[in-house]
Order: sequence, then structure tokens, then C-alpha cells
Amino acid sequence: MSDENLPGGTTTIEAPPIAARYFRVREATVELCRTLETEDLVIQSMPGTSPIKWHLAHTAWFFETFVLARASISRRPFHPLYGALFNSYYLQAGSQFPRAQRGLISRPTVDEVHRYREHVDQEVLALLRDGVSQELEALVELGVHHEEQHQELILTDLKHLFSLNPLCPVYRERRPEEDILPGPLFWVAFPGGIRSIGHSEGGFAFDNELPRHQAYLEPFEIASRPVSCGEYRAFLDDGGYHSGKLWLSDGWAEAQREGWEAPLYWKKEDGRWRIMTLTGMRDVNDREPLCHVSYYEAEAFARWAGARLPTEAEWEVAAAAADLEGNFLESGRFHPVPAASTVGVGQLFGDVWEWTSSAYLPYPGYQPPLGALGEYNGKFMCNQFVLRGGSCVTPRAHIRRTYRNFFYPRDRWQFSGIRLARKV
Ligand SMILES: [Fe+2]
Repeated sequence: MSDENLPGGTTTIEAPPIAARYFRVREATVELCRTLETEDLVIQSMPGTSPIKWHLAHTAWFFETFVLARASISRRPFHPLYGALFNSYYLQAGSQFPRAQRGLISRPTVDEVHRYREHVDQEVLALLRDGVSQELEALVELGVHHEEQHQELILTDLKHLFSLNPLCPVYRERRPEEDILPGPLFWVAFPGGIRSIGHSEGGFAFDNELPRHQAYLEPFEIASRPVSCGEYRAFLDDGGYHSGKLWLSDGWAEAQREGWEAPLYWKKEDGRWRIMTLTGMRDVNDREPLCHVSYYEAEAFARWAGARLPTEAEWEVAAAAADLEGNFLESGRFHPVPAASTVGVGQLFGDVWEWTSSAYLPYPGYQPPLGALGEYNGKFMCNQFVLRGGSCVTPRAHIRRTYRNFFYPRDRWQFSGIRLARKV
């Protein structure tokens, strides 16, 4: 960060690249909240989401706990009780406030949380400026990726919160853009055989992307683009939500229990399908990629379409040569958009997370790290499914071809969509 002043300093200070990245990512989190009111920051809309204020504090807690406390064992915490308030799920890092009650934490105030963040920033940047061990630098890198995960969660949680408000609040104004007509969905064939899956040497990866290993694949075909809203609407119009024979038993039970009639955020008004977005309420655009469906809906749609969901290994093989560009958070769209037709498999990155048929399980030989950080990913490897590719609210620098996201099959508040696959 040779061309930037670090907070608290008055002169330009030479700092290592990790300091610049830390500073940019922390600033980006605050920027996401710039246009929000205090009232928007403190409400929890359901047990699975968190108030934005909590995300702001928890990401500071992560650096305080896993970087600052390790750098100096005699360091006193910023506040003796913040650890219990803002520890998410790390049993080995102390007690945790109940997740479903995070919306009840009216104190510390938003301003106090910002002061907490600033204090942690000053300490971390001072540490990085003075030079840190490789181990500590790796923990800062992990914290930066963790912060990016929470940037995405801030927007997904905010969207859910706003969707419950009859005023349909607008997060950011919609930017004008041409309505691209996507090409027809076509199939791209891949040969079978033994393929290497998982992260290889070099660059950051979460532990759940390791170790790289071999997987045997039958020949398969994968769709050239994600399923569009128009294609999904044909499923609705064909009674997809009223035909149990298309659904997994658990999925049908969930759909009945929750009264699902359409994807989350779709509402029928005066005979027209409308959709809640971060840029306001609008008509459903048949051309754009479908999102906010559960694994159960994705699976039922695929069956209705005479296809299936790809496995995560198939998805990764299809993505091996794909461009990592896409509609990510930085585009400022905050919503999936249609893409022009491609020669091969397109739109794998950005726009919508794509459900795979793969259970979220450890790769062969997986070993979680020792200590509390071993709880980051490994203990969730049960009853969830893998999603790939990132979404329109994922920071671009956060995604990789080997990135494994995971959610429960009933979850719909993420920007989760569908890509089809089939047997050759
Ligand atoms: Fe977290």
C-alpha cells in the first residue's frame, strides 16, 4: 500500500500487500452500509440471518480473536463481553450469544461497533506494518476472505429483511442497462474419465477445498447457461408446485409446510409475477437467471425438465477452462442479469450460486486445522449441499473454480439458481 495513508498516520507509509488488501476489504464492508439507516442495521429478520450491525462486529471479532490475541497473549480485549456477543459458532473460542436472538442486542450501538472496527483496524494495520510471521499473515488472509463472505451475507440478509417490509425499500438505485436476449440453452459434452478435483498449490483456499484428489466421472453434458426465469415459469405454469411426484419427499413436505408457490421474493400482483430485488420491486424478467430457489425446487425443476443437477466434480471440470469473469458484487447491479450466448459453457461465475447434487462432504483425506479454526468449515459437513460459482453479491476476489459454498436444501435466501446437467 505504498500510495495510501494508513488510518491513524499522517504520512505515506510503506506497507506489505496484505495490509493494502486488508484495508480495502474492511473499507468495502463499511461502504456497503453507507446508504443504510441505523434502523436497517439492527433488525434480525429470521433465525438464519443476522442484523447487519452483528456482521460488522463479528468480522472485527474474528480479527481480534484469531490475529490480535495470537500476536500478543498479554493483549486485553477491546471489551470483555464482546467475545461472547460476536462469536458465531466457535466452541473452542468461548461462549456464544444465541444466534436466533442477535436482533435483541441493542447495545453496543452502531456507532460503538464502528469504533470497535476502527480500533481493531488500527491494531491489525500496525501489526502488519511492523511485520508479522507467515502464520499470522495467513490468519489475516483468512480473516479477509471471512470478511468477504460476510459482505455477501450483509446483502443477502438485508434483502430478506427488506422483502418483509410492505414499503419494499430500495437498497441502491437500479442502473440503466440494455436487456440482453440470452442465447438458447444448449448442451456441452465432456468425456468421462479420472479427473483432478480441488485446490492445487498456490493462492488462498479454504480448507474444505483440499486436498486435491482424483474423481471418476461418467461422460456428461452440462447446460450452456443457468436456467432463466422464463424457463422456470413454464414449470410453475405446468403445475410444478402442485405435483408431488416431481419432488423429493423431504422437499415436497417442506413446500407444503411453507406454502411455496414460487421462488422466494416472487409475488403475483394483478396477474403479473413481480420480484423483490435490492434495487426495488419490478416485473419478473423472463430473460434473467432464476434465483432464490431451494435445492428441493432446483431438483424438482430438473426432474420436470428431463435432466438433473450436476455433481460438484462435473461442475468443476466444466469450469476448468472457463473465464472467471462475471456479474459480481463490484458490478453494482445486485441482481442476476442475462448474458449473451457463449460458444461453450458460460455464466459459471457470478449472477447466481448453482446448486449441485453433491452432499457437502469432506474430500478424501481432508483434515480440518487444529483448534478453533478447524470449526470454520469441517463441522458443517452433514445434511447440506454444495453450490458453486458465486453470485451477483459475491466479491470478485472471493471466488475460485474450486470454491465450495454450502447450504441446507431448504434454504432460499441466498442468490441460488439452477444449472442443468444430463447423461450423454
Ligand atoms: Fe463468520
